[in-house]
Amino acid sequence: MGRYATIMAALAATGAFAITPEQMLGAPSRGVLNPNPSGELAYFLKSQYSFEEQEPTRSWNLLNVKTGDITKTSLNTTEASEIVWIPGSDTGIIYLNGTNEDTPGGVTLWMGDALDSSASTLVASLDAPFSGLRVANTSSGNLNFLMYSLAYPNGTAYNAETAVTPRHTGRLYSNSYPRHWDTWLTEQRYAVFGGSLLANTSYSLAASGMRNLLHGINFTATQPETPVQPFGDSTDYAISPDGNLIAFLSKATHLNKANFTASYIYVGPFDGSSLPVAFNGPNTTAYDAGHQGASGQPTFSPDSSKLAYIQQDGDYYESDRQQLYVVDVSFDDGEVSTSDWKPLSAAFDRWVASIHWAPDGKSIYSTAEDRALVRIFNFPLDAAEDHVPKNLTGFTTVSGFSVLPDCSLLVSASAIWTSRDYYTTTGDGKQNVLFSATDVDEELKGLGPHTFSEIWYTGSQGVQLNALVIKPTNFVENKTYPLAYIIHGGPQGSNSNRWTTGWNAQTWADQGYIVVEPNPTGSTGFGQQLIDAIQGEWGSYPYEDIVLCWEYVKENLSYVDTDNGIEAGASFGGYMTNWIQGHALGREFKALVTHDGVTSTRSNFATDELWFMRHDNKGIPGDPNSTYDKWDPMDHIANWSTPHFIVHNTLDYRLPESEGLALFNILQTKGVPSRLLNFPDENHWVQAIENNLFWHQEIFNWINHYSGVGGALDDLAIGN
Ligand SMILES: *[C@@H]1O[C@H](CO)[C@@H](O)[C@H](O)[C@H]1NC(C)=O
Ligand SMILES: *[C@@H]1O[C@H](CO)[C@@H](O)[C@H](O)[C@H]1NC(C)=O
Ligand SMILES: *[C@@H]1O[C@H](CO)[C@@H](O)[C@H](O)[C@H]1NC(C)=O
Ligand SMILES: *[C@@H]1O[C@H](CO)[C@@H](O)[C@H](O)[C@H]1NC(C)=O
Ligand SMILES: *[C@@H]1O[C@H](CO)[C@@H](O)[C@H](O)[C@H]1NC(C)=O
Ligand SMILES: *[C@@H]1O[C@H](CO)[C@@H](O)[C@H](O)[C@H]1NC(C)=O
Ligand SMILES: *[C@@H]1O[C@H](CO)[C@@H](O)[C@H](O)[C@H]1NC(C)=O
Ligand SMILES: *[C@@H]1O[C@H](CO)[C@@H](O)[C@H](O)[C@H]1NC(C)=O
Ligand SMILES: *[C@@H]1O[C@H](CO)[C@@H](O)[C@H](O)[C@H]1NC(C)=O
Ligand SMILES: *[C@@H]1O[C@H](CO)[C@@H](O)[C@H](O)[C@H]1NC(C)=O
Ligand SMILES: *[C@@H]1O[C@H](CO)[C@@H](O)[C@H](O)[C@H]1NC(C)=O
Ligand SMILES: *[C@@H]1O[C@H](CO)[C@@H](O)[C@H](O)[C@H]1NC(C)=O
Repeated sequence: MGRYATIMAALAATGAFAITPEQMLGAPSRGVLNPNPSGELAYFLKSQYSFEEQEPTRSWNLLNVKTGDITKTSLNTTEASEIVWIPGSDTGIIYLNGTNEDTPGGVTLWMGDALDSSASTLVASLDAPFSGLRVANTSSGNLNFLMYSLAYPNGTAYNAETAVTPRHTGRLYSNSYPRHWDTWLTEQRYAVFGGSLLANTSYSLAASGMRNLLHGINFTATQPETPVQPFGDSTDYAISPDGNLIAFLSKATHLNKANFTASYIYVGPFDGSSLPVAFNGPNTTAYDAGHQGASGQPTFSPDSSKLAYIQQDGDYYESDRQQLYVVDVSFDDGEVSTSDWKPLSAAFDRWVASIHWAPDGKSIYSTAEDRALVRIFNFPLDAAEDHVPKNLTGFTTVSGFSVLPDCSLLVSASAIWTSRDYYTTTGDGKQNVLFSATDVDEELKGLGPHTFSEIWYTGSQGVQLNALVIKPTNFVENKTYPLAYIIHGGPQGSNSNRWTTGWNAQTWADQGYIVVEPNPTGSTGFGQQLIDAIQGEWGSYPYEDIVLCWEYVKENLSYVDTDNGIEAGASFGGYMTNWIQGHALGREFKALVTHDGVTSTRSNFATDELWFMRHDNKGIPGDPNSTYDKWDPMDHIANWSTPHFIVHNTLDYRLPESEGLALFNILQTKGVPSRLLNFPDENHWVQAIENNLFWHQEIFNWINHYSGVGGALDDLAIGN
């Protein structure tokens, strides 16, 4: 802490700007814009943590899309935790109030007006913590809506505050998948519920209440569940704009949940008159054409006649290409039917990630990761099969967007130099910037694209590979800075030009480093071939690419001091750090940092999602062709000698904390300088802001000491 203050004082004395962990974590964060039907106003959530008060302040804000003017609304963000614009109205809203005076643990729905906070009225009292509101305004005037909640096997929504607690704490399982991400499974599963607000004198919930739309769907291996955990949300289901149809995704009911990613899109009538059916499940056109993997983003066209969605092919390959499809849907005499199923992105070698219909229903706008950015692309419904769309956005990463009635795009984006930009564009390369955090936030002062560049080097398989290079904000020409070499997780992931509060590249650089972030074999956004090539090759191609990139930096970037560099990574990046520790490249660094990594590939089956290890290591441990034995960092312990900082969190069920403990204990036994940081209340990530600050302080103390940009390490008595 003391040393930290000294560095900051020194930087301040030079008059140069630099972003500190406190500034990065204490800066405002702003959500994605949610525009009203006319596209003139848009809500966003702003939140800012105060280290003095030790709590965040949050507010709903309204952006005027024409002028860029922002006004803070008086809506309490706990009481209005989600806001949805009412289709067909200008400023009418429905919001979820996270409190319920009648039922502890329940919530309420209110209708109001975005421009008049006194106009709110209570329209529904719900007896469980429903969330994920999606609303259709029907021709009758009634509002049909969908929300989700955990539910008992009998279909009733589950409310933890009113539920009966068993007398013991035992958890008993007879199937793989006892726990997932940071949660032990119980008998409850998530389900989508439908309700109607009847438009008589005033709006109120129909007597039928909340109907569980998944209840009654049969299964042989896996119970139907929506949203799909742990990251599923309200984009896992949809209601048609006319309010008649619903669609949702759920994992394959005939396949073991731990071994497969496959999920299908179900469609059915909103009124529940028949059970929803998976139109891309087994024995359908889509399935028989080989598209059998995870599905997502069901989205109805503006006229409710079509449904678009994305799907992967492989039924246990989570990093297979995500492709875009559309199918006609109709609803006659209580019967839902689908026809005219069609792929729309077959020739596009990227992952389609979101779906937004053009207002005329003739094309679909989607985001896709593309060369270390997320960009927007357009897919006409009548395009030829070999159509390859062009990117419509520039050099920031798209976090979310909407298509406005005039067909322009309202974009929320970020970059290494801005936590949030809002702009409109027609896709012609010009951006009408409405807001940029870097212009406004004191904490981000001095940041800009001037610190960012990319290099391309020849990788182990002969192709050009990408790496990001980030200089300190106060970079001085002709000086050299130690290398901070950061390896991403996944391995099917990327280092990209976006803002993040974990592994924020500029914050690392501003400690006095040149940050280099390679995108080696396995990285996403550069085509499927590079992604697929890592299967069974964890310790070969990506390691070789990382060595080649390091050699490129050493020879070609005169301002990088590779003699005093450090290396760090999380998850697969942690695996790679441990692999580097046992190999020649490990001797080129002064210090290493592993966050929640793999120490022994042979213990990979202690993870939750077995499909991932089964795919990436070509089978299960013991299979003759599997690669667990080939790439185990534990087989290279003899070489471990570089000072190593280890983070491993207790709620990490993806890679259990025993991985970090084994790594630490072996390093300690060998007399290699090492420290272990554990958060008992964090999962694979570090989310609490005070924890995140401590994470930064202790890692920076360590690397700054060994690289020479900092001073001595404090003595630690704990554990002696
Ligand atoms: C917001 O609402 C919550 C729940 O009703 C309440 O506890 C809190 O004090 C409110 N905050 C403000 C600033 O009024
Ligand atoms: C529903 O849409 C119609 C126009 O189609 C509009 O007149 C009505 O006010 C909307 N309902 C609400 C509650 O805003
Ligand atoms: C939320 O509900 C509470 C009652 O549970 C009510 O007092 C409060 O005014 C509501 N807040 C809003 C913003 O509607
Ligand atoms: C479903 O099960 C829960 C928990 O046992 C119970 O409280 C609830 O009343 C049941 N619902 C129905 C409709 O039987
Ligand atoms: C899936 O998991 C079960 C155990 O839960 C196992 O018996 C089965 O062989 C696995 N199937 C595949 C294809 O891996
Ligand atoms: C409006 O609908 C609600 C819910 O069905 C019902 O309780 C109420 O009596 C209706 N009011 C009128 C005026 O019809
Ligand atoms: C679900 O399974 C039960 C028992 O096998 C059967 O009676 C019922 O018809 C099935 N329902 C559907 C919708 O397939
Ligand atoms: C698909 O159809 C075949 C033949 O009609 C049937 O044997 C099989 O059980 C079906 N598969 C599923 C998963 O429904
Ligand atoms: C699309 O990407 C290319 C290459 O990065 C860039 O030159 C071009 O300006 C982008 N298109 C638009 C519309 O920004
Ligand atoms: C950096 O070094 C080059 C070559 O020695 C020299 O021409 C240049 O003036 C130096 N720049 C600064 C800012 O010192
Ligand atoms: C340095 O850059 C040059 C020019 O791009 C390239 O040919 C060379 O291979 C690079 N050096 C290394 C070690 O990669
Ligand atoms: C192992 O790989 C060989 C060669 O690709 C293949 O012929 C064989 O079927 C594989 N065995 C298993 C158990 O997958």
